[in-house]
Amino acid sequence: MGKRQQMVPGTWGVKCSFHSLAALLVTALVIGVIYLTGESGRLIEEPTTVKDNNESTSQCNLFSGKWVFDNTSYPLYKDHECTFMSDQLACEKFGRKDLSYQNWRWQPHQCDLPRFNATAFLERLRDKRLVFVGDSLNRGQWVSMVCLVDSSIPPKRKSLHFNGSLITFKAKDYNASIEFYWAPLLVDSNSDDPTNHRLPDRIVRVQAIEKHAWHWTDADILVFDSYLWWRRPKMKVLWGSFESSDGISIYKEVEMLRVYEMALKTWSDWLEIHVNRTKTKLFFVSMSPTHERGEEWGKAKGQNCYNETEAISKEGYWGTGSDPKMMRIVEAAIDELKTRGLTVEMINITQLSEYRKDGHPSIYRKQWEPLTEEQSSNPSSYADCIHWCLPGVPDVWNELLYAYIFHYSS
Ligand SMILES: *[C@@H]1O[C@H](CO)[C@@H](O)[C@H](O)[C@H]1NC(C)=O
Ligand SMILES: *[C@@H]1O[C@H](CO)[C@@H](O)[C@H](O)[C@H]1NC(C)=O
Ligand SMILES: *[C@@H]1O[C@H](CO)[C@@H](O)[C@H](O)[C@H]1NC(C)=O
Ligand SMILES: *[C@@H]1O[C@H](CO)[C@@H](O)[C@H](O)[C@H]1NC(C)=O
Ligand SMILES: *[C@@H]1O[C@H](CO)[C@@H](O)[C@H](O)[C@H]1NC(C)=O
Ligand SMILES: *[C@@H]1O[C@H](CO)[C@@H](O)[C@H](O)[C@H]1NC(C)=O
Ligand SMILES: *[C@@H]1O[C@H](CO)[C@@H](O)[C@H](O)[C@H]1NC(C)=O
Ligand SMILES: *[C@@H]1O[C@H](CO)[C@@H](O)[C@H](O)[C@H]1NC(C)=O
Repeated sequence: MGKRQQMVPGTWGVKCSFHSLAALLVTALVIGVIYLTGESGRLIEEPTTVKDNNESTSQCNLFSGKWVFDNTSYPLYKDHECTFMSDQLACEKFGRKDLSYQNWRWQPHQCDLPRFNATAFLERLRDKRLVFVGDSLNRGQWVSMVCLVDSSIPPKRKSLHFNGSLITFKAKDYNASIEFYWAPLLVDSNSDDPTNHRLPDRIVRVQAIEKHAWHWTDADILVFDSYLWWRRPKMKVLWGSFESSDGISIYKEVEMLRVYEMALKTWSDWLEIHVNRTKTKLFFVSMSPTHERGEEWGKAKGQNCYNETEAISKEGYWGTGSDPKMMRIVEAAIDELKTRGLTVEMINITQLSEYRKDGHPSIYRKQWEPLTEEQSSNPSSYADCIHWCLPGVPDVWNELLYAYIFHYSS
């Protein structure tokens, strides 16, 4: 098929499945809790080039900087050594030969990022819940976080548990859990099924969030994202319920930006009322850029991130895949929450990820089956230029989150 295919972010379905986890899901439904074994106790390499940051780091803008090739410290873990790696993101396993995408360190202009210390992090999470809430990009960040701590936990001292929209990773010796909750639009929508959510129409119940929120309101650290599923000019908004058959449900097509604003208002109101502000730390990960249009960085039209092996070096590069208007709406919602006494930190990954056109899986990933030869030879239709290879860019997002958890909030 010659037609350019729109990758649907976050599907567990045919286009970009999350195969190993989906397989585990089936198992998990049968036996409930599964315990996974892995290679034991290999500690992450000691830092070499990255030093810890100092007091003035808290004044430093961590998001303004550049990528530096550093194959002594990176990757922070190995693809095949992470017990919980997702086949959708395991690019090396699925044949990617140029591996330099694993070797880049983010260097802020004014300071250094602290080195990720898995033991210190798990200690910080003792008796706590860290919950990622959002779409497949956030799920990728969750996988990265689990891989970052995995090698510091002996086999049998960790577990993975699937229950509907919630996946729970537990480090038993710490009574710590690192979870992912599927809610790609944050509020209720017709895409809320964790496996079967590829629907032609996108409908949101813009005033309803409690069905999702009660699963995570009491978490100690909450990390939200919601962007890619909104990328269309208009959304269908539903007032009433999905179940209602009495004809009182009202649908209306509304301009997307307006609906995004309304959804974030619902989200804000929920947080304001339900979150215990002395207990819960809140983060919002800004939009993850895509690299589907090669002409934006000087390639021929019709080409995409496939074959890219280097980062973009032009400072301030910004592609059309990232909508600054949406970012401003998130900022406004966060500012408004601040006036109500609630602090949400934005983890501003957009600009730094814009540079990394080399970081996507393209054809090196597994769907339900690995790509066929025919599909692999047609990257303009089959390359995934939305998600990110692991180890890779999302590990840096987690290093930023780590920096905030340790150094920015007391
Ligand atoms: C995100 O970081 C980039 C790079 O420092 C900056 O240009 C942009 O204004 C930031 N955006 C927000 C919303 O903070
Ligand atoms: C790191 O990269 C340099 C330059 O490409 C190369 O010479 C060296 O062998 C690499 N080291 C490792 C550990 O891969
Ligand atoms: C702390 O970081 C700042 C900014 O990078 C630097 O100017 C300063 O010398 C550092 N101080 C120490 C004690 O390392
Ligand atoms: C990592 O953190 C642990 C626990 O806080 C500490 O004992 C260890 O020295 C740290 N490792 C490094 C390399 O900083
Ligand atoms: C284990 O962690 C949970 C939060 O995830 C907490 O509610 C519970 O009290 C902890 N258990 C113990 C024994 O501290
Ligand atoms: C799954 O979650 C529901 C709440 O959504 C809970 O009532 C149920 O006990 C959980 N099941 C398992 C097996 O943990
Ligand atoms: C909020 O959390 C703090 C710290 O965990 C706790 O001491 C306090 O009782 C909580 N407040 C409410 C209203 O639950
Ligand atoms: C990808 O790179 C290879 C080797 O450099 C080249 O032969 C091939 O034509 C490139 N394909 C595309 C679609 O750019």
